[in-house]
Amino acid sequence: MAKVRTQYVCQNCGYNSPRYLGRCPNCGQWNTLVEEQVQSTSASSAKAKTTTLTGLVSKPQKISEIDSKQTPRVKTRLNELNRVLGGGIVPGSLILIGGDPGIGKSTLLLQVSGQLSDEHHRVLYVSGEESGTQIKMRAERLGVSGDDFYVYPETNMDSIRDTIRDLKPEYVVIDSVQTMQATDVSSAIGSVSQIREVTAQLMQIAKSNNITIFVVGHVTKGGALAGPKILEHMVDTVLYFEGDLHHTYRILRSVKNRFGSTNELGIFEMHTNGLTEVKNPSEIFLEERLRDATGSAVVVSLEGTRPILVEIQALVTPTVYGNAQRTATGLSRNRVSLIMAVLEKRANLMLQNQDAYLKAAGGVKLDEPAIDLAIAVSIASSYRDKGTRPSDAFVGEVGLTGEIRRVNRIEQRVAEAQKLGFERIFVPKNNLKGWKVPTGIQVIGVTTLKEALHLALA
Ligand SMILES: Nc1ncnc2c1ncn2[C@@H]1O[C@H](COP(=O)(O)OP(=O)(O)OP(=O)(O)O)[C@@H](O)[C@H]1O
Ligand SMILES: [Mg+2]
Ligand SMILES: [Zn+2]
Repeated sequence: MAKVRTQYVCQNCGYNSPRYLGRCPNCGQWNTLVEEQVQSTSASSAKAKTTTLTGLVSKPQKISEIDSKQTPRVKTRLNELNRVLGGGIVPGSLILIGGDPGIGKSTLLLQVSGQLSDEHHRVLYVSGEESGTQIKMRAERLGVSGDDFYVYPETNMDSIRDTIRDLKPEYVVIDSVQTMQATDVSSAIGSVSQIREVTAQLMQIAKSNNITIFVVGHVTKGGALAGPKILEHMVDTVLYFEGDLHHTYRILRSVKNRFGSTNELGIFEMHTNGLTEVKNPSEIFLEERLRDATGSAVVVSLEGTRPILVEIQALVTPTVYGNAQRTATGLSRNRVSLIMAVLEKRANLMLQNQDAYLKAAGGVKLDEPAIDLAIAVSIASSYRDKGTRPSDAFVGEVGLTGEIRRVNRIEQRVAEAQKLGFERIFVPKNNLKGWKVPTGIQVIGVTTLKEALHLALA
């Protein structure tokens, strides 16, 4: 009989303490410690965890004897998903998909499940949130069927494990990790201890049976995956599904990938009959752009391996009363504040009594230094009420002394701008060395912010 004791577990980072604390000493968050019952694991259950479903126990192996022959990745019919995963699904991996409520996590996984079963892979879709009927209704709307596609409304991990053993699927979807219950943990469903145990069990099932498991995770108001950060540490791949519910675009972003590069983006569009891929995102993000508006600058941003062109919009207006407002949508507020300070000090723009609203158009989120120059140009354009040329694009990091700093992969960025018909692109002067500047587009090297503004807003 296992002993039960009470512990206080931080719901943010998983830190535990024998007594209640107002502030977590590990991650510094307030009021995140919650009382949970933990059972000290008995020797027999600890042993059970190291054996596979088939009863085999793994042994140490000489590295020279390990077979390094890579199992080929399984390509889904959604190329955008394949790219985000680093070229396709790695068999036996545990993939976590996080996202806001209603963003389309279940839709995406249901579609992928249907496609995999169409290719004669056996798929088990475990749902703790919806009944079989509800899933069937969605499947009908999305046109998903398949002979080897099993739907299983269940939350008990023991039953799920037994079913996986009997059914022997190649792919399992767990929708969602927060609704699953491991019976040897007595804490409430969705608590840190439960999530940790459920994930550990799933990991073990995936690794020892070479089953790929997709796990849905809910996201908190702050945008982090609900439950502990450790959830992200445990799994192989973490994908975030984002976008805003008012737009039809959805972005799948890889934030951790043991088998591929991170910060890859996959772009989808949500329709009644499901998600479709967006093949040329730059066109979409520039689609609604006004030709002669002020406060607009296009940046060639590199999210992962693919460049996308996005319009940065700024609206700068005098502050009516109180403190100047600074808001940023899809951009970091800190980055915007810093660039505004540099504009003030190094380019003589009087911005301290101006409100500024910044936005990356189309609901995309950008976070790389190369977008700085476009942010600066859009702010200056709005402030001076002078339009930028619609055929100009901007790339460059802005330094604190007002210098334009080099960015990575300049050739790719310039090529993308050229492909979309831009006539001029402003780049850091230091980026001009060591490669062949193309002829179809005018590449303008700039050293300072002041110089860039002078040329762009002439
Ligand atoms: N009949 C419909 N026609 C078109 N779009 C629909 C329809 N029903 C649902 N949707 C879209 O699907 C979205 C819900 O998708 P889904 O249930 O896959 O999201 P989820 O991320 O799994 O949500 P949850 O967190 O609630 O599980 C809705 O926000 C809506 O955009
Ligand atoms: Mg769902
Ligand atoms: Zn903590």
